[in-house]
Amino acid sequence: MLTVLALPAAAGGAVDPRPAAPATAKPLADWPAVKSAVGRDPKIERRIASILAGMTLEQKIGQMTQPDVRYIAPDQVRQYHIGSVLNGGGAWPAMNKHATVKEWADLAQAFHAAAMQTDAKVKIPLIWGTDAVHGHNNVLGATVFPHNIGLGAARDPQLVEEIARATAKASRATGISWVFAPTLAVAQDQRWGRTYESFSSDPALVRLYGAAAVRGLQGTLTGDGDVVATAKHYLADGGTVHGNDQGEARTSRLDLINVHGAGYYSALAAGAQTVMASYSSWTDAGSGAAGGKMHGNRALLTDALKGRMGFDGFVVSDWNAIEQVPGCTKAHCPASINAGVDMVMVPEDWRAFIANTVADVKAGRIAMARIDDAVTRILRVKLRAGLFERLPAAGAFNGRADALEARDLARRAVRESLVLLKNNDAVLPLRRGGRVLVVGKSADSLSNQSGGWTRTWQGTENTNADFGTGQTLLAALREALGADGVEFNETGAGVDPAKYTAVIAVIGETPYAEYNGDIDWPAPLQHSARYKEDLAVLDAVSGRGAPVVTIFYSGRTVYANDLLNRSDAFVAAWLPGTEAAGIADLLLRDGNGRIAYDFRGSLPFAWPGDACTSTVNGTILFRPGYGLRYDSPKAVSALTFTPAPEACG
Ligand code: GLC
Repeated sequence: MLTVLALPAAAGGAVDPRPAAPATAKPLADWPAVKSAVGRDPKIERRIASILAGMTLEQKIGQMTQPDVRYIAPDQVRQYHIGSVLNGGGAWPAMNKHATVKEWADLAQAFHAAAMQTDAKVKIPLIWGTDAVHGHNNVLGATVFPHNIGLGAARDPQLVEEIARATAKASRATGISWVFAPTLAVAQDQRWGRTYESFSSDPALVRLYGAAAVRGLQGTLTGDGDVVATAKHYLADGGTVHGNDQGEARTSRLDLINVHGAGYYSALAAGAQTVMASYSSWTDAGSGAAGGKMHGNRALLTDALKGRMGFDGFVVSDWNAIEQVPGCTKAHCPASINAGVDMVMVPEDWRAFIANTVADVKAGRIAMARIDDAVTRILRVKLRAGLFERLPAAGAFNGRADALEARDLARRAVRESLVLLKNNDAVLPLRRGGRVLVVGKSADSLSNQSGGWTRTWQGTENTNADFGTGQTLLAALREALGADGVEFNETGAGVDPAKYTAVIAVIGETPYAEYNGDIDWPAPLQHSARYKEDLAVLDAVSGRGAPVVTIFYSGRTVYANDLLNRSDAFVAAWLPGTEAAGIADLLLRDGNGRIAYDFRGSLPFAWPGDACTSTVNGTILFRPGYGLRYDSPKAVSALTFTPAPEACG
């Protein structure tokens, strides 16, 4: 049950929520058959059969093995017939964070050359997968786009497709042909550390975006700027109890199908060629039946996905995820392969995995037919992607640093993603000409702008110099207003705001990824209880003679009534990435005093109205779809602020 706080009358309550997406038809009663845009090609199927017939068991298991580039050398790819590698977050060629695009492309070429030197009858090209989840975010010089939560706020599938296109091109510049995106989580509890990787809590919007992202990434699958996409994490990764990462999704079967499956129907229809299994588990809230960890759930991985939905690409496991299946280890899990995992992401222990799995087949614990099906699927994707016909180094973008950048597109994405929660007395947009005081820990931090999965896994341990491109909001304001027009003081201490025409406070969450970002139940979701410095900086400047405009970076919506009350204007900016000029575009009038851009973003998740509401049910301050516009100003009166309890519940 959704309780929407009756906003103070002056706030006018609702802002007409932009329709999230065409409402889907009546709820599905079962898994739907999905017709993929990438159909069966008899020529490819014949080639698969011919290649498979000539493969040894060791070669087949090698194809199903995916080490991390930190733990395998090219010559071992040759020796063990390895079918794929990945670079997990924080892995770069020669572990050099500043590796050039050419060094990435050279390593891809080296892995390919090794795969071409195996003793197999038919040499099978390797496929390299990477988490390019908001641009080619691991690579120095690559433009970083807003994380998915911001794209959800934009409600613009065309934008999502263009960003995916740019990301695919950047990936191919580094010789990489497989991207572990889009995430199709329909996050239901913002406690989850991966909420920002989810487009929205609204399945209809995720469904709309799933197809757009896959179209952008895969194109025709064989073009110079095309990569293989990954629908992840199957299934209900965003539906766990209290948002516990890798936890238990306790939902009805109908919700599993209609909420958490929504993105997959459109992504698979658009031709997604791979699916990544989720660490989470599923328990049927109706019957109580425990489906267990997804990596061992045959009913969902095989019967539903490959059977009912007709998925004929391949399923890849998540990082060491097979060890979470009862009876399994990182290097040994016949249960997961029998459940339907076709390629195993076994970053370090890949030698043992190969030996164990060969033994499993010889002992009859895994049927050869299952191995042949898995290898068939892997070969099918590689043939569809044209990998047999081209070198990683082939293609117009290979080795080109300019192919990593798409700054104007990212700047537009930032503009479209921002949500204006408050703008009392039409403080925004600011006129140029006066002097602005900028405060806050995130004003000059590309890291805080970009969040997790950026240059490193957690998005931490970076300085602005580790980006090689981009602009902080402080730099963008200085560029727009002139160095003399902007004064920066991170804490706001010792300055008199009355001397300035406005104060811009840039605050919010600091980077995190996966479980490191969980707000573990029963901790409250009150932002200032987690980041005291943000309340302190607003206390230093609020109500002291100049209007305060707060720019709030976050990977989720949070309880922030105390911060809203100290702000005359408040912008939910999510995790905008490297192009903060897109924020300045909306904050400032143009040189002629006109409004250059208006806000268009609207909330993709509910904004909590108390410190313990974090799901689609609860006390909601601003509902999904809320977002103010310059052309439809509405004041937000003082909000009741109740300090968070020690623990919710
Ligand atoms: C991580 C994530 C997954 C990612 C994979 C490879 O644990 O769950 O989203 O693609 O490992 O980095």
